[in-house]
Amino acid sequence: MGEATSIVIFGASGDLARRKLLPALYNLYLKGRLTEPLNIVGISRTPFSHTEWRERLSAGVLEHSPLSWDRSRWEEFAHHIWYVPGNASIPEDMQRLNNFLAGRELGTGRRLYYLSVAPPLYVPIVHNLGALGMHQETQGWRRAIFEKPFGTDLVSARALNEEIHSYFDESQVFRIDHYLGKETIQNIIYLRFANAIFEPMWNREHVDNVQISALEAVDVGTRGGYYDDFGVFRDMFQNHMLQMMMLTAIEPPEYFDADLIRDEKVRLLNSVRPIQPQDVICGQYGGYNPADDSDSSVRTATYAAMRIWVDNERWRGVPFYLRSGKALARKRTDIIINFRRTPQRMLGGRQSIPNALSICLQPDEGVQLAIDAKVPDTASDTRRVHMGFRYDHAFAATPIPEAYERLLHDVMQGDASLFARSDGIEAAWQLMDPVIRQSEQGMPLLYTPGGQGPPAADALLTRAGHVWDDGCGGS
Ligand code: BG6
Repeated sequence: MGEATSIVIFGASGDLARRKLLPALYNLYLKGRLTEPLNIVGISRTPFSHTEWRERLSAGVLEHSPLSWDRSRWEEFAHHIWYVPGNASIPEDMQRLNNFLAGRELGTGRRLYYLSVAPPLYVPIVHNLGALGMHQETQGWRRAIFEKPFGTDLVSARALNEEIHSYFDESQVFRIDHYLGKETIQNIIYLRFANAIFEPMWNREHVDNVQISALEAVDVGTRGGYYDDFGVFRDMFQNHMLQMMMLTAIEPPEYFDADLIRDEKVRLLNSVRPIQPQDVICGQYGGYNPADDSDSSVRTATYAAMRIWVDNERWRGVPFYLRSGKALARKRTDIIINFRRTPQRMLGGRQSIPNALSICLQPDEGVQLAIDAKVPDTASDTRRVHMGFRYDHAFAATPIPEAYERLLHDVMQGDASLFARSDGIEAAWQLMDPVIRQSEQGMPLLYTPGGQGPPAADALLTRAGHVWDDGCGGS
């Protein structure tokens, strides 16, 4: 029998385990990508029995991954699932977990620790893992995954990195940003560097502006407590938005390697000009958290738009516009590269419609290129039309896996390319901290739920002669 693999989920009674992690692990199992012997061990304070936890998880898989549901395969898989009730921030409970794991591993085994717990628990759990030597790789690898948010500012992120590094080597640490597990995001690198028509165009000579939008129809729902402390800058910008921007803007690494890619990302963030207050618009939807009229709640931004300048050879002078918010008209996530207009001598003075490349994450994953085309049966009228592909058509036979499936698999392979490194996390906070401090001093602009966000976000672009692009849903 081969070496055992144990996947330990801290915060096992939480939503993430039920909605995302177990469906992802089950799909990996069905695809034969989990090696046996396998132990999936949950720990949290809720006193479930092994059977109760398995039942809760099976309901989660049925609800969140119904296409892969197969009772007999699930039952086979469920034999690998275990539950240890306990509080991992208490040394005795961690010791019980360790004993349980050792009993199942029979000598040697690799271990993946997934910290899906409230951020204040990261330090005590890491400390207990370290104090019991559970990070040591004498009997197989030990890896730890940290959910976002990773800190609340530069100081707390640094302190957390230091605590983690006092036991774990950086190569054992995987900080999740689930956007990096999205297929369309991974495709950015290929789109840019594997396609001869884009690679030479990807710079200030040809690109006029870049727009990155992550707009959501949902409001903060039941997450008000968390959201009040985080707001849109910590919840979306420090991580997902900057990750999308980095992949769009980085220099090509010499070859595809986790550290080289992450070096380029840090280099990119370091060349971003400090973001100016006049380049940031903050909004809050009407009716946000009405139960709480505290100062912090009233100031929480649920929407932000900003203009970012990257001061390097490739991008000098090209604005990157980023916006994200909740309680908006519809869910839409995309990255749009707006190219410059062509010189228009032959068009009789008429302006061409500039090309735009849309990388669409939601609702329909795919890529679209907007081009200017002559309208049939007219002398010289033109209209914007689209060429492109959608994943569900082009790759109909290989449905897009959930982000967590790819990410969990990569951790088990030891591939960190889709994870944030400590210096990258810190550089992102360094950029966002002043923006957050500034926003906390002012009042966000109110906007109507179900609308387009504050009109000032449009003005941010119009004053430079730009408009927000319609995105992938455009005609
Ligand atoms: C999470 C944020 O990281 O990403 C949520 O905490 C947000 O507030 C979510 O709703 C958006 O993710 P996705 O994959 O639906 O775009």
